[in-house]
Amino acid sequence: MSSCCTPRGYRRVFSARSAERQARRYRSRGLDRTSRRIAAALLARGVEGATVLEAGGGVGALQVELLRAGALHAVSVELTPTYEHAATALLRDFQLSDRVERRIGDLVSADGAAAPADIVVLNRVLCCYPDMPRLAMAAAQRTARILVLSFPKRTWWTVALLHLGNALLRIGRGEFQVFVHDPRSIRRVVEAGGLHQTRDERGLFWEVMAFEAGGRG
Ligand SMILES: C[S@@+](CC[C@H](N)C(=O)[O-])C[C@H]1O[C@@H](n2cnc3c(N)ncnc32)[C@H](O)[C@@H]1O
Repeated sequence: MSSCCTPRGYRRVFSARSAERQARRYRSRGLDRTSRRIAAALLARGVEGATVLEAGGGVGALQVELLRAGALHAVSVELTPTYEHAATALLRDFQLSDRVERRIGDLVSADGAAAPADIVVLNRVLCCYPDMPRLAMAAAQRTARILVLSFPKRTWWTVALLHLGNALLRIGRGEFQVFVHDPRSIRRVVEAGGLHQTRDERGLFWEVMAFEAGGRG
């Protein structure tokens, strides 16, 4: 991992407390807006019987949603261990514990190595990882059908906002930084991994791109 971001930095930003908060929010209000857009895009393409791989899925709300909609099985590869308590409780509540395998690790390295899946999702993850090309390529190479990525859209104000956030993190010795990777570079990496783009939607802050394997059309 690059020196900007340490395991301690990730654990601080993505703390167990914020994980519990996210799980509570999902129980009471369902998915947030960006996750809903991702779920809707996947449901429109069909998730029945599909295997899912989500990297950086946090408490795993999107996995719960896809499994309840008919997906067969999910593997979660999450860099930060702080989500585990909230995530396993969520799976228990929805009686999905036997359909999700949770691993702690980095998708690009041996500890997070995962087999390909029909559906691969990185929701708000590329912006939390310094080496976008390696992570986007690792995701593309594990996609049998559909890859969905979300990341901050690149505008002057998102860049300014995240620069400010990074400055505050540095002042507070946060050992973590956020990245606004160029969407065109993300697309190039994924296409070099053998997928073609099928969707590019910009919300207020987050951009959602989808890619598919196989021939176009
Ligand atoms: C902003 S959070 C997003 C969590 C969840 N996907 C959501 O949208 O609510 C980013 C997550 O990505 C994880 N992450 C970053 N790089 C990763 C990698 N290379 N492999 C696995 N997880 C990663 C971080 O630990 C963090 O939990």
